[in-house]
Amino acid sequence: MRKEIYMHRLFFVLVAFLVGLSSCSSFDSSPKLANMSSPEGIISVDFFLSEDGQPHYTVSHQETMVIDTSGISFDFRDAPSLGMNMEITSIDSSDFEENWEMVWGEQDSVLNKYRELRISLVEGSSPGREMNLVFRVYDDGIGFRYEFPEQSNWDGEVVIMDENTQFQLTGDHTAWWIPGDWDIYEHLYNTTRVSEIDAIAKRDHPNLAQTYIPENAVNTPVTMRTDEGLYLSFHEANLTDYSGMTLKVNTETLLLESELVGSRDSSKVKRTLPFHTPWRTLQIAEKPGDLIESKLIVNLNEPNKLGKPDWIRPIKYIGIWWEMHLGKSSWDMASGKHGATTENAKRHIDFAAKNNIDAVLVEGWNTGWERWIGFPDREGVFDFITPYPDYDLEGVVAYGKQKGVDIIMHHETSAAPRTYEQQLDTAFALLTRLGIHAIKSGYVGKIIPEGEYHHGQWMVNHYRKVLLHAAKHKVMMNVHEPIKATGIRRTYPNMVTREGLRGQEFNAWSNEGGNPTEHLAIVPFTRMLSGPIDFTPGIFDIKFEDYPDRQQVNTTLAQQLALYVVLYSPMQMAADLLENYEGNPAFQFIRDVALDWSESNVLNAEIGEYITIARKEKDSDDWFLGSLTNEDPREFDINLDFLDEEKSYKASIYADTPDSHWDNNPTEIQILVKRVKKGDNLKLTLAPGGGTAIHFKAE
Ligand code: NOJ
Ligand code: CA
Repeated sequence: MRKEIYMHRLFFVLVAFLVGLSSCSSFDSSPKLANMSSPEGIISVDFFLSEDGQPHYTVSHQETMVIDTSGISFDFRDAPSLGMNMEITSIDSSDFEENWEMVWGEQDSVLNKYRELRISLVEGSSPGREMNLVFRVYDDGIGFRYEFPEQSNWDGEVVIMDENTQFQLTGDHTAWWIPGDWDIYEHLYNTTRVSEIDAIAKRDHPNLAQTYIPENAVNTPVTMRTDEGLYLSFHEANLTDYSGMTLKVNTETLLLESELVGSRDSSKVKRTLPFHTPWRTLQIAEKPGDLIESKLIVNLNEPNKLGKPDWIRPIKYIGIWWEMHLGKSSWDMASGKHGATTENAKRHIDFAAKNNIDAVLVEGWNTGWERWIGFPDREGVFDFITPYPDYDLEGVVAYGKQKGVDIIMHHETSAAPRTYEQQLDTAFALLTRLGIHAIKSGYVGKIIPEGEYHHGQWMVNHYRKVLLHAAKHKVMMNVHEPIKATGIRRTYPNMVTREGLRGQEFNAWSNEGGNPTEHLAIVPFTRMLSGPIDFTPGIFDIKFEDYPDRQQVNTTLAQQLALYVVLYSPMQMAADLLENYEGNPAFQFIRDVALDWSESNVLNAEIGEYITIARKEKDSDDWFLGSLTNEDPREFDINLDFLDEEKSYKASIYADTPDSHWDNNPTEIQILVKRVKKGDNLKLTLAPGGGTAIHFKAE
């Protein structure tokens, strides 16, 4: 295997030498190879055909090769594989530059600037099929995809049995990875060398019954650091009508290869011509924070199709939610401790109205919860219009309206998507009638029918169908147990947030002791590169002493506040029980913190260690800062040069004390007020598992 790769590389070097390859946007007249550099010349892609006519590419950053000779091919049902004997029919290059506005986001507008290389290929022998390969080369990474144009000698359904896109690594990098589970992303991150990746060892997950990991593969985004200090992150953009891609890892050759999620008939994707695949993406950065500031994933999606309607708006919410995860109440009514009662909902609305909270999530409001988790036959169980008798849905919504507080509808499907689809019309008609504009949905359990997976094409299409249905009914979506984020939020900004990681809930009931202190120091550099996260921060009662069978949160209280800035989400929950907020001065930060930003800067970062982010509130002069660390205490000297010129700020600083500690003393916090201005230096002291949150109020 290795030998073959080096032969290819040697061949490539020879050809390049012979034709005198120029540094950018050129191609050989023979036409055997093509090259494209990013606008500033930082990143370049080389394409060539090997002697047997197989397409290959390499990727370089400055002078360093980051992806060595990597092949591409496809396997089909009832048709020969595609990817040998290919000939180039044309090579086109073009430049593109635009600035687009985010409806909501980490910043006001986004520069989308790339150079495109489009290579049209045809099989030199029968059946003579055509395929185009399109590379977009940015200064912060690349995306490439395959296009299958309409063609006379290829029609009917195309059944892809495998896509074989390779990424040949150039070293045994340090990787932050979760296993390539076909059903769930709620795994702890592992930090190992690529040669030590062992996803199969993670198959028997004690908390996740629906885990399915067929190969030694990882899910994306998967992020790596080379020994030379370059940062790489592999993912995909615009996952539409296709299966999610995991990356199979060869721990000996250090080759990653796409492994698409399967389906009940063991095929991977079914399409008809013409179609194209999602973008295969690679972010490349010299600093870990640059991965976070990169907008590669959204840039590789289509422009906004919904405009900027007023029903799409960032919201802060509380909910009848954590009490169920603690076991204080339950979703179902039969238990005798039903959480979603009219009275409890009104209590939450009152609290929201008083505390600058926009909305209340009510879980467990509808019938069916007696037979959700763990029941094999979950089809036809939930209905999405009938409340339990102790919950006056209409009355609660009306009460909220009176007080200026919205209700977030909850749709738990228990992974029975056919039941949900049958009821989409009635369920959404109810929302329209009630004037509800946000849903949290969920897909707990194994998908019914058996053989379909959360991340396969069948479910990708289900999630999209619901999203479009929601757009038609003016509803924003927050999806749990979702398909991964791939930047669709640009095209459909009603896709506001999702879970898709081990969230706060694991701290309540995970029998592994919750999320370890390093978890939130890894998430910003992995999961968060794909898009907003509904992590549900803000737990103040960290030890759950009233709930002895539960775990604990492994952070300090100050870190819980820092999460509102570090973890980006336009729908952000204050997750704890209301009684834990009442009378606590630290809650002021949650009242004040913004949800929508005109600018975001990563001030310092090391993956798995610490991160500090400053964000400026949209349409305001205020700034917010969030900083967090893993197990190790830190001292940071932060230069406030991000603040605006000629303004003075009242900084409210929510910090750990010298005695704070995630385990021994997690709730001790100090709130300091200082006058600061641009250019000042501020010392932050973070406890083990700690953090700092700051509101810079412009005066
Ligand atoms: C799992 C979700 O992540 C959680 O937030 C929700 O409460 C339960 N499913 C019930 O839908
Ligand atoms: Ca979940």
